[in-house]
Amino acid sequence: MGNKSIFLGSYPTTRLRRNRQNIWGRNLVAETTLLASDLIWTTFVREGNNITESVTSMPGVDCMSVDILVERAIEAYRNGIPAIAVFPKTPTQLKTPNAIEALNPNNLVCTAVRALKKSIPNLGVICDVALDPYSSHGQDGLVQNGYVVNDETIEILSKQALVQAEAGCDIIAPSDMMDGRIGEIRQELDANGYKNVQLMAYSAKFASAYYGPFREAIGSATNLGEADKKTYQMDPRNSNEALREVALDLEEGADMVMVKPGMPYLDIVYRIKNTFAVPTYVYQVSGEYAMIKAAGEKGWINSDEALMESLLSFKRAGADGILTYWAVEAAKKITNN
Ligand code: PBG
Repeated sequence: MGNKSIFLGSYPTTRLRRNRQNIWGRNLVAETTLLASDLIWTTFVREGNNITESVTSMPGVDCMSVDILVERAIEAYRNGIPAIAVFPKTPTQLKTPNAIEALNPNNLVCTAVRALKKSIPNLGVICDVALDPYSSHGQDGLVQNGYVVNDETIEILSKQALVQAEAGCDIIAPSDMMDGRIGEIRQELDANGYKNVQLMAYSAKFASAYYGPFREAIGSATNLGEADKKTYQMDPRNSNEALREVALDLEEGADMVMVKPGMPYLDIVYRIKNTFAVPTYVYQVSGEYAMIKAAGEKGWINSDEALMESLLSFKRAGADGILTYWAVEAAKKITNN
């Protein structure tokens, strides 16, 4: 990639189909590879024991109690998945306007992290930092006079990050889109002896319709109601602004950056990777997964092939890794091929 083509050639001397005749030949000239080690498995955790509750709008995806999560994570690890991201479905009665449950060291996500690190120490664990799983209004930050306030929110977020680090989380992933939160979290972690906890910034996170099924899965859809997140998540019309978001996050200490959603924003992935040449990740979000699965269920597309193709497109655009609900299935397919 990058280099201008040195030799263009012309028909009939040049026939590009020659290299496509058979599987081995196509493998030989393949420019992009998708490996199990490129995949981060995104998961939902809930209260209870021995419970798997299917997420209606995401066929094949379960919200799991911690014991089941650990069992399935072991399987993921055995299939070569390097890391898992855990999202909590907080019981409704624990949700409050100030989202205080986010700071409970024994909350669902911290419990899950401790269980995962105990059973599978070599599986990386990633936690979201944002208040929406814990807030009664469903917003990622504190709300004052109908507005999500920035500086008051990042104070809580940095404490949330610390609680997660104390539980054993390896990578803190702030998904809230507040200004200055990466720097504030870095400082809080460093001041408390967590210099080596990594930060994966949701740098270019767009205000997207594709988050619908996720909000249903963690129960925040009803909390949010008719409200949206457009005063902090990015405007889908913007691309240069994504570069500014990344630049700021890197300056504040982000170890990795992320683009989200994935497929509608491949141009953003490409630009970021080419501009900054830093570890760049992309999140294939719930709505992307749901669309492909739904069309597959209707028999309109082959959803396995469409999902595999979508994962490849992220690699081709320059992503170093992909967060996806389909990680374990994809890893199995890659290994068996
Ligand atoms: C929380 C968060 C969201 C997602 C990941 N972290 C939802 C949102 O911002 O409303 C969405 C993931 C998905 O749709 O798969 N801040």
